[in-house]
Amino acid sequence: MRLLDGRDLLAPLPTVGRRFIDDLERSGLAGRGGASFPTATKWRAVAERSRGDAVILVNGAEGEPHSKKDRTLMIARPHLVLDGAFIAARVLRARRIVLYIGERHAAARDSMLGALAHRSEPERGIVSLAAAPPRYVAGAETAAVHFVDEGLATPTTTPPYPFQRAILVQNVETLAHVAALARSGEAPDSVLLTMAGGVTRPGVIEVELGTTVGEAMARGGGPVEAPRAVLVGGYFGRWMQADEAWRLPLTREAGIGCGVMGVLPASRCPVCEVAAIMRYLAAESSAQCGPCFFGLRALAEACAKPAELGRLKRWAAEVRGRGACKHPDGAAIFLSSAIEVFAREFEHHDAIHQVRRVA
Ligand SMILES: Cc1cc2nc3c(=O)[nH]c(=O)nc-3n(C[C@H](O)[C@H](O)[C@H](O)COP(=O)(O)O)c2cc1C
Ligand code: SF4
Repeated sequence: MRLLDGRDLLAPLPTVGRRFIDDLERSGLAGRGGASFPTATKWRAVAERSRGDAVILVNGAEGEPHSKKDRTLMIARPHLVLDGAFIAARVLRARRIVLYIGERHAAARDSMLGALAHRSEPERGIVSLAAAPPRYVAGAETAAVHFVDEGLATPTTTPPYPFQRAILVQNVETLAHVAALARSGEAPDSVLLTMAGGVTRPGVIEVELGTTVGEAMARGGGPVEAPRAVLVGGYFGRWMQADEAWRLPLTREAGIGCGVMGVLPASRCPVCEVAAIMRYLAAESSAQCGPCFFGLRALAEACAKPAELGRLKRWAAEVRGRGACKHPDGAAIFLSSAIEVFAREFEHHDAIHQVRRVA
């Protein structure tokens, strides 16, 4: 069942109980917020802990700079997203649903609130809105919970994980697939992508699972010029050589991340692009953990200096797993893949720029 093409209807919710988690498991649905975590596993963990007091946190923060799919979905299918949240609330016996929507995503927020206004009084009564601050880490699950609890959108140490407190944090696209599954009985077979960078028609598309990156690019009108590489999965994703990426089928195992497919044209300097993104990620650290705050800054600075390549590789490995949240891990995976794919450009960065200056 397609998410974006369908009509957004207000219809009675299907009858669902605890057994729905088995359907979820069979469907193989994995989270669409970035980590591709199996949805049924998380629901089971929350169900075991809920005493009728679970909380459903609908993650529509969409802090990834190039991602547009979550806000597009909330604008196009607000009832479908709400259905997913209400189904989760029923199955997990929740007393509260929080719509955590990016502070700057006004159209998405208005769409969700507009749809909510048509719901019954008991349904409306358990839903509240929280405006996610426009920071990269504000969308991390513990940051979202921290914001709802104390007004601070910074990640917290784990355990306890949100599920251990009977809190389900779920991305809006995942919830829309949950609703589609409950209504149609069909396993989710599509994924939302944001086509970004050097593609003719940047924007959000929905493709069947298994579609290759090349086929998805064709839907976006193809690359504007010869592509050098593709960033698959956004800033926490990985760089791939263009020809290799073109053949990649977008399956659950492919590491789709948050669904951003960023095309880097051959005319751009990959090292400068990577360094700029690393500077951004370093600045977005919540500055609570030394290895993340100091490590990412050092990595960003060292990025544009080819002499530092060996050290860069070592440091990138060292920051992984050293923070309270996965922010440094995501940045390290991004950088490690860049060093591999752009090895030549990293090695000869100064020389390449001298040639460009002369030309
Ligand atoms: C630094 C950071 C930022 C994140 N930002 C978002 C976000 O903006 N939206 C989102 O849905 N998930 C985001 N996540 C993933 C969430 O932590 C969480 O895994 C997700 O919301 C769970 O939903 P899902 O299982 O449906 O994907 C982020 C994670 C990290 C580490
Ligand atoms: S790892 Fe980084 S972003 Fe995550 S809590 Fe620590 S300092 Fe903040």
